[in-house]
Amino acid sequence: VKKLLVDVDCGVDDAQAIMMALAAPDVRVLGITCVHGNTSVENVCRNTLRVLKVCHSLEIPVFRGASRSILGHSLNLGHFHGKDGLGDVPDPKAPGLELVQNEGAVEAMIRIASEHVGEVSLVATAPLTNLALAVRLDPTFPQKLKGLYIMGGNTDSRGNSTTCAEFNFAADPEAAYIVLNDFLCPIYMACWEFTSLNKLSWEFCDLWLAQDSEKARFMEKIFAYCRKVSCAERCHEEMGDGTGFVPCDSYAMAAAIDDSFMVECMQVAVTVELTGTYTRGMMVLDHQELLSKNNKVFIMKKVDMEMFKELMMNALK
Ligand code: BDR
Ligand code: CA
Repeated sequence: VKKLLVDVDCGVDDAQAIMMALAAPDVRVLGITCVHGNTSVENVCRNTLRVLKVCHSLEIPVFRGASRSILGHSLNLGHFHGKDGLGDVPDPKAPGLELVQNEGAVEAMIRIASEHVGEVSLVATAPLTNLALAVRLDPTFPQKLKGLYIMGGNTDSRGNSTTCAEFNFAADPEAAYIVLNDFLCPIYMACWEFTSLNKLSWEFCDLWLAQDSEKARFMEKIFAYCRKVSCAERCHEEMGDGTGFVPCDSYAMAAAIDDSFMVECMQVAVTVELTGTYTRGMMVLDHQELLSKNNKVFIMKKVDMEMFKELMMNALK
């Protein structure tokens, strides 16, 4: 059984990734830690509980983490995921925040990794604040993980949020820097450009949502807003360019569920620009090996899209 710990800023694609994990055979989600990002950390906790409820998985513990970046900022993507992070669809039966654990997210991550040394794959689909705090509290934390799967960063200077940065890195550049420099465990990355090259057609999305299940009906509702935004003419650099949808976070999740999803990776040491006027938050690739870094990450280049579509379909069955 694959043991996963998932760190989210539960927007629409985080919800899709969680649902993918919950539906995958031989996967156990040990906990979900929440962090600021697409919306406030309170909304993230609530959204995560809503997803767990529709999947009949409310026994999975949800932990509240950082409400701001290391330097105290908070971006949010209200224009894409809706203000509440899940498309602003009223849900009077949403589970209450009293279901969130008393233990904090960072403490829970460290504890869970210590209880299952060498067995836990951590999937991070959000700003990396909780992870950075965890390695500062316990420097041995990364070594206790089996691997880290990140959705975030960019491999050229395009980005999707600021001039040159991808959202999860732009929302907390210092945290991304700390994680990429201090996590001495295998790191697999689904970066922005890679995800945007592997979009799903709207025809596929229609088939995916047409499945006769409570999960598909839930997804259809929360997906409507960002689908509309994706299709709008001016939305070129978000999760769709009008010709399809890019469920960014699900690529990192698919890799954690089944390593054979990653057909080709580029192995390179990386870091994050922290001071550039235009480039803050941009991922920097050390192709020339000038930074003397030992831990090269695996950046996904080519993946098995048939496997991906199957995992996506299965998530809503
Ligand atoms: C990332 O930013 C968020 O909006 C998505 O959930 C994803 O994690 C894409 O840049
Ligand atoms: Ca996310």
